[in-house]
Amino acid sequence: MGDTMDDASWFQPRTDNARWALPADIRARDGFDGRDCGWVEQMRPFVRHFSQPGQTVLDPFCGFATTLLAASIEGRHGLGYEIDPRRAGLARERLDRLGLQADIRDGELATHGEQARADLGLTSVPYFGCGWTGEPAAGQLYLEQDYAGFLRGLRRVFHSLRGVLADDGYCIAMAENIVIGGRRFSLAWDLARILDSLFVAHEERVLCYPRPVSPLPHAVAASNRSHEYALIYQKRRETIDLQATEELLRAIEAAGFTFRLYGSLAGWREAGEPASGRPPADADLLLPADQARFDALLRWLVEQGFELSLWGEPVKPPVDLQCWRDHRYLRADRRGRDGSLVRLDLACVSPPSA
Ligand SMILES: C[S@@+](CC[C@H](N)C(=O)[O-])C[C@H]1O[C@@H](n2cnc3c(N)ncnc32)[C@H](O)[C@@H]1O
Repeated sequence: MGDTMDDASWFQPRTDNARWALPADIRARDGFDGRDCGWVEQMRPFVRHFSQPGQTVLDPFCGFATTLLAASIEGRHGLGYEIDPRRAGLARERLDRLGLQADIRDGELATHGEQARADLGLTSVPYFGCGWTGEPAAGQLYLEQDYAGFLRGLRRVFHSLRGVLADDGYCIAMAENIVIGGRRFSLAWDLARILDSLFVAHEERVLCYPRPVSPLPHAVAASNRSHEYALIYQKRRETIDLQATEELLRAIEAAGFTFRLYGSLAGWREAGEPASGRPPADADLLLPADQARFDALLRWLVEQGFELSLWGEPVKPPVDLQCWRDHRYLRADRRGRDGSLVRLDLACVSPPSA
């Protein structure tokens, strides 16, 4: 790949300039020996292609500031969050020695990100079960005991990233599927599902790294794991298929369910002038607080080809009305074979009191 990104779906990052290498003495002072330090050349093409000079590139899992180093070389402002204070200090030292500037903050974006703002989110996510030997900082995702807790942590951080990212800004996360104790964890796929629920999915790029290759015994599936994915997402509103959505709303009424339409589709209808403004991203329905009717509607929607989710987690009816306490709405999506989208966000008229 040259200085501009082409449409190749995979590429091999250039070898890093020795100048950018993590200095041996800094590596030696890290509690994990800098084993998870990435490549500057892995990040540079994404910085160049998905941000403009002078803009802010945020890495919520900053590590040794490799992303911020790439941002700085490319004339962007780097902003990073690192949960391990010792490592954050080492990252600052790394940049100082190179005479490069960036803003590295201690802690997690979800709890320390009030003042943050970014034009591009770019990161390599922590790896579950990597045998972290550094400090046991609260919120350190390397130390999550179970995979579900680890995924909840990823969701928490990317949800915060969404909050501080400019409209239309990209969120790009590097991840790979992993094998621990002979058991495969589909970390990249699971991260993609989390990102799917927060951003609009665009593409993935496969990044390949040179590694030794060995022959395999017959029917053994293991690979040398020499690739990872750059998952490319954008903070952008989806646009629903208006005609299919209107047809669906009529069908819901005809099936005997009551609701009140509010939000962007209601406003769009009132304006009565589809050429003005942005098309709605969803149809917001207020439903009566009636558990039986709610479950009946959910079952009906499933029959009509809808997928149900609470903040990206798939759910099946029955779903407890209490879900509004934590999630505010239940999402129902139907994606057609022509690429169309009908999206309902279902909320309750009078949520049960906490
Ligand atoms: C894969 S490493 C990033 C490496 C980085 N790209 C580099 O090349 O230096 C992930 C980093 O996330 C940090 N981390 C883990 N949980 C975190 C959290 N909740 N908030 C912020 N940083 C976290 C880890 O300490 C680790 O330094």
